Amino acid sequence: MQLKELSTIEKINKIREDFPIFSQQINGKPLAYLDNAATTQKPIQVLDQINRYYKKFNANPHRGAYTLSIKATNFYNMARKNIKRFINAKHTEEIIFTRGATEALNLIAYSYGMNFINEGDEIVLSIAEHHSNLVPWQQIALAKKAKLIYLYTDENGQISKDEINKKITNKTKLVAIAQVSNVLGTVFPVEHIIKKAHKHNAVVVLDMAQSIPHIKADVQELDVDFAVFSGHKMLAPMGIGVLYGKKDLLIKMPPFLFGGDMIDIVKEQSTTFAPLPQKFEAGTQNVGGAIGLSAAIDYLENIGYDNIYKIEKELTSYALNKLSQNPNISIFGSKNGDDRTGVISFTVKDVHPHDVSTILDADGIAIRSGHHCAHPLMTHCKTNATCRASLYFYNTFEEIDRLAESLLTVRKWLGFDKR
Ligand code: ALA
Repeated sequence: MQLKELSTIEKINKIREDFPIFSQQINGKPLAYLDNAATTQKPIQVLDQINRYYKKFNANPHRGAYTLSIKATNFYNMARKNIKRFINAKHTEEIIFTRGATEALNLIAYSYGMNFINEGDEIVLSIAEHHSNLVPWQQIALAKKAKLIYLYTDENGQISKDEINKKITNKTKLVAIAQVSNVLGTVFPVEHIIKKAHKHNAVVVLDMAQSIPHIKADVQELDVDFAVFSGHKMLAPMGIGVLYGKKDLLIKMPPFLFGGDMIDIVKEQSTTFAPLPQKFEAGTQNVGGAIGLSAAIDYLENIGYDNIYKIEKELTSYALNKLSQNPNISIFGSKNGDDRTGVISFTVKDVHPHDVSTILDADGIAIRSGHHCAHPLMTHCKTNATCRASLYFYNTFEEIDRLAESLLTVRKWLGFDKR
C-alpha cells in the first residue's frame, strides 16, 4: 500500500478496505465503531495469517518431535522475535507471552511485588490507572504492608512534574503507570517518571495497552523495567498479550504459574524451572494469537506510525472541536489535541452515559459508557460514569460528524429539549 502520496481522507478510505467488519450495517446504519480503546477491529491481513496457521500448521508447540509441532514452535518463536524487534528489547527472552496486559500486570505484581516489596515501601500509581494496574498493587500493598501513593491528574488530565517530583522519593520501590489513560487519553510524561524513579532506585512498570497501538515503543530508549500490552487493542486477536521485563529482573523472579513447559526437572518432592522465557509460560500457549499479534505488528508498521499519528491527530482535533460546539457536552481532560490520543471522555448534561450510548447505538454508533474500569479516576473527576468515544486510524471524519449529530438528539429523545 502506497499511502505517502494520498490525502488524509484517501488514506483512511484505503485503509478501511482492509477491515471486513466495516462493510456491514448495524441497526440499519453503517457501523461507526468508536470504541477502539476497548478493542480494535481486525484487518484481513491479520485474519488471513491466523486462518492459514489453523488450516495448515496447527499443533502443540514444544511438545512434538514431528514436523507440524516443530513448525508451530518455529512460528511461535518467530512471533516472539518480531515483538522483540518491534519494541526494541535487548534480548528475545525478555518477551513473555501472556493472555493480555491484565495477566502480565498480575504476573509482575505476584512474582516481583510479592518478593521484592517490603513493609513500609511505597508503590506509586497514577489516579488514572485502569483497575488492572491498580487492584494487583493494592493486593501487594495489603499483603506486604506497603503504602500506595497516588499521582493526581490536574484539570487538563495531566500529571504535573511537581506532583511527580513530590511523590517519587527514596521510599518509592515501584512506580506503576499507564503511558496513556484509557479514560482521558492523556499521554503521561513517562520519560520523566522513569528517570525520576531510577534516581531513587525504584523500578517502573509501564502499562502500554493504550499507547502502543498509537505511539511507537522503544523499551531500551525509555529504559523501562517492565512494560505490558494487549494484542487485541492493536488489531490482533483477544487472548494474547506481552510482558516485557529487563532480563536481570526476570531472572531473579519466581514463576507465576506452575505446570507443563515451564519446568526443567520434576521430582517427587521438588522441581527446577526452565530458563526464560519458558519459566513464565506454563501450559499450552496461544500460538495462533502470537501469529496474529506478529501479523498486526507487520500491518501497523506497513501503514507506518508517522501516518497513524498524523491521521489520529487530525481526527482527534476534529472530534474535540465538533463536540465542544455542543453546549450540553462536558469533555474531561485536555480539550485540545496536545499530549493526548483520540480517547475522548465526556458527559451530556442530565443524561446518564448508558442512555447516551443506547441512543447512539440506534444510529449505528458504538461508544463505551460507564466507569471504564477506573473507579478512583471517576471519583477524582467527581463523576460516576462518562461516555467515551475512542478513535483509531481507520475512523472517518464522517463518523465523527454522525457522532456529533446523534449527540444533538440525545436530550430531545429524553424530553429535556424540544424536538
Ligand atoms: N481496557 C478496556 C477499556 O478501557 C477494556 O475499555
